[in-house]
Amino acid sequence: MRIDLVSLFPEFIAQLAAHGVVGRAVERGLLSLHGWNPRDYAEGNYRRVDDRPFGGGPGMVMMIEPLRAALAAARAADPSPAHVVYLSPQGRRLDQARVRGLAARERLVLLCGRYEGVDERLLQAEVDEELSIGDYVLSGGELAAAVVVDAVARLQPGALNDAESAEQDSFGADPDGLALLDCPHYTRPVEHVLGTVPEVLLSGNHAAIARWRRQQALGRTWLRRPDLLDREALSKADRALLDDFLADHHEAKKPL
Ligand code: ADE
Repeated sequence: MRIDLVSLFPEFIAQLAAHGVVGRAVERGLLSLHGWNPRDYAEGNYRRVDDRPFGGGPGMVMMIEPLRAALAAARAADPSPAHVVYLSPQGRRLDQARVRGLAARERLVLLCGRYEGVDERLLQAEVDEELSIGDYVLSGGELAAAVVVDAVARLQPGALNDAESAEQDSFGADPDGLALLDCPHYTRPVEHVLGTVPEVLLSGNHAAIARWRRQQALGRTWLRRPDLLDREALSKADRALLDDFLADHHEAKKPL
């Protein structure tokens, strides 16, 4: 997969490719990242990329031409068609289903805005999709683009060392098509001043462990993100697991 980033901060892109799963995906040739700086396509001695907003008001707006030229250069650098994504708080909220859709594409161009925004005409003409990573405002699209790159990179076949781990994460592809939060995880030591590892995980009983993990995932999702769970749509077995979890949970919270 190829991802092009249009950004005023090219160092940012080099950083992205230097670490972790994204770095490994690049090293393994599963992903290539390319940066395009609109300033390189700006005219005049000052290489201006922004100007004051018509109608007044604070801040600056990114101008059409430097962005359009940077996008044209990015598009022309590879023959496969580019899906252009603009990162902004006005976009549709990114979720794992959308990440899967993006990860299946051959090529993405991520457009990072700065200042108060980007001239609307450029967005109308060039952008296929506007995405937000959450209901808060960042000072530019770069961090949001990094989120997209990371989430997409780890879904490239061969990017993760344990092929299963992507599937087992929160929001991974659940066999029932459900999106559940992840279960809790523990490692050594078994006994610690902060608590003891749940016994079932030490039992070696794989069926019991799988059942416990599923129950924890259901219970946590119910308590923390009820919006993700439709109780009526659960299988009978899952509903029983959830009911047991909630009974224990309420029991544990009873005053002495
Ligand atoms: N740019 C600024 N804020 C953003 C957000 N929440 N999501 C995506 N891009 C952004």
